[in-house]
Amino acid sequence: MAALRMSPARLAQSLRAAPISPAWKRTMASVVPPSQTSTITEPAPDKDAKIKTFQIYRWDPDQPTSKPRMQTYTLDLNKTGPMVLDALIRIKNEIDPTLTFRRSCREGICGSCAMNIDGVNTLACLCRIPTETSHQSKIYPLPHTYVVKDLVPDLTLFYKQYRSIKPYLQRDTPPPDGKENRQSRPDREKLDGLYECILCACCSTSCPSYWWNAEQYLGPAILLQSYRWIADSRDEKTAERYDALNNSMSLYRCHTILNCSRTCPKGLNPGLAIAEIKKGMAFA
Ligand code: SF4
Ligand code: SF4
Ligand code: FES
Repeated sequence: MAALRMSPARLAQSLRAAPISPAWKRTMASVVPPSQTSTITEPAPDKDAKIKTFQIYRWDPDQPTSKPRMQTYTLDLNKTGPMVLDALIRIKNEIDPTLTFRRSCREGICGSCAMNIDGVNTLACLCRIPTETSHQSKIYPLPHTYVVKDLVPDLTLFYKQYRSIKPYLQRDTPPPDGKENRQSRPDREKLDGLYECILCACCSTSCPSYWWNAEQYLGPAILLQSYRWIADSRDEKTAERYDALNNSMSLYRCHTILNCSRTCPKGLNPGLAIAEIKKGMAFA
């Protein structure tokens, strides 16, 4: 997947910067194109069927020497729900049970169905199937992630980075009433646009800086989460949170390209949150 999106010059540059692990080598394998794989079709299509073609990335860890491939499926949109996740569920339930992907809530809350659909990182459950049947939809796992299987990305590093920012309330002062840490309405409103983040990783995996420096740069999702606690009037560890980010890699690899804000399926603005952290650190 990574190799598909990378120019030879950038590839050579990133390889010089990082040793090649076996998993990384696998991501550089070329994907077997759909022309070399069979098409799995809609069972018994009606005569007025509205047939749509999907090309879906497949890779099976139980066959580690096999290259990833693009599998072609056709579905009758008249028998399929409106969202891409509906198409994936129908393929899995009725056509090919081996297709693997994550999903849970089906309503944009859990963040588990994040994937790259027609070139955009988004949530499959919130993404409408393009009804133009002459256009083939292409579905990949989130870019520049290791792949566990098919459309399932390995988010181990992402969650490790989330843990590193201590995403919970930190304070030494006990609550004034001994029970609750209260917040004024204006202070609570400062968290709007932050608390809604569902940690789907669409933004981080669309960020070129995160692609090249994922081990050290925290990326937009984790930085938005960090700002969510910096902006919280009840938290008393703002200085420590700034200190943890005050190095050349964790925060300052953001170059304000704003892919993150453009792709967020929840309409959030991680680029702005990052700018707020930088501003806060400059005036701290
Ligand atoms: S604004 Fe920063 S975090 Fe967002 S995509 Fe650009 S470099 Fe990445
Ligand atoms: S900011 Fe948006 S894209 Fe990024 S993890 Fe949160 S919900 Fe997903
Ligand atoms: S299934 Fe939960 S966000 Fe899509």
